Amino acid sequence: MKTEILKLLRERGDYISGQELCNKFGVSRTAVWKVINQLKEEGYGIEAVQNKGYRLKVNPDVLSASELKSRIQNKWAGKNIYYYEETGSTNTDAKRFGEEGAAHGTVVVADKQNAGKGRRGRAWQSPGGKDIYFTILLRPEFVPDKASGLTLVMALSVAQAIESCGLEAGIKWPNDVVLNGKKICGILTEMNVETDYIQYVVIGVGINVNLDVMPEEIKETATSILLESGKKMARAKLLQGVLERFEENYERYEKDLSLANMMEEYNGYLVNRNRQVRVLDPKGEYEGTARGINEYGELLVETGDGQTVAVYAGEVSVRGIYGYV
Ligand code: BTN
Repeated sequence: MKTEILKLLRERGDYISGQELCNKFGVSRTAVWKVINQLKEEGYGIEAVQNKGYRLKVNPDVLSASELKSRIQNKWAGKNIYYYEETGSTNTDAKRFGEEGAAHGTVVVADKQNAGKGRRGRAWQSPGGKDIYFTILLRPEFVPDKASGLTLVMALSVAQAIESCGLEAGIKWPNDVVLNGKKICGILTEMNVETDYIQYVVIGVGINVNLDVMPEEIKETATSILLESGKKMARAKLLQGVLERFEENYERYEKDLSLANMMEEYNGYLVNRNRQVRVLDPKGEYEGTARGINEYGELLVETGDGQTVAVYAGEVSVRGIYGYV
């Protein structure tokens, strides 16, 4: 009932009488009053006026389960949500839920992580109250080879959601989301595979939203939405946008197991496009001009000798020759 009342208050944007709430949920005025008080304790500014009822005046920037459940109306992405004020890593939690049989689309969200994981064994700094850390658990019914495309599908979804909040997001291949040439979002995908069958995939996403000071060691290449736009963004609304986009894009990907029908959109966000890049291939580094991805998510790089190499993510990374992008 708490989630429903919150949703109603937000949608109405005006007063709702206590009586209307009692009738709607078939409960007493005291029961409604108790829920309103719980919401107030969670930081919601709810005004109560005699003869008018209740009105939501201040929606705090929280990622709580009630806030997210009152927003997310997807078919499966985020239908089940686990929220932690603090946890080690949402990827680790999601893998545990994966082992325990949790449903496709289950989302784990944390306000703070104390063992946040990045790619290549790095740590992901995850202070509380400012950013978004979430992981979605998926149970794809396709072969493990096709799972790598999902990371790009998530990058596209994050870029689209940020753009619909009015900011010009880009993607650095394969899956960093950037603003003004600096990273604001990282994605870590992990999988549990049995021979040629995917048990589950977890896609973990960290978005620097309202961080006001970047740690010294990453500030040359990383930034936050607040630092770039000068404005705070409501984290729950952004996460809602990401999950809505992801549900839609995942279903497009699942249909023909190819990025062919998303390639153009993805390439439209690609900040490396038509730029000189250095391909850091353990078998030998080389330079070329990045042209965009193909239907497999590989980056097409034109090398000087008139050849085009399809670079597969995995072991290889790509740097701009003049900096991060
Ligand atoms: C990267 O190195 O770019 C990937 C960073 C991924 C960070 C996110 S935060 C939520 C999820 N939980 C983790 O421990 N890592 C991912």
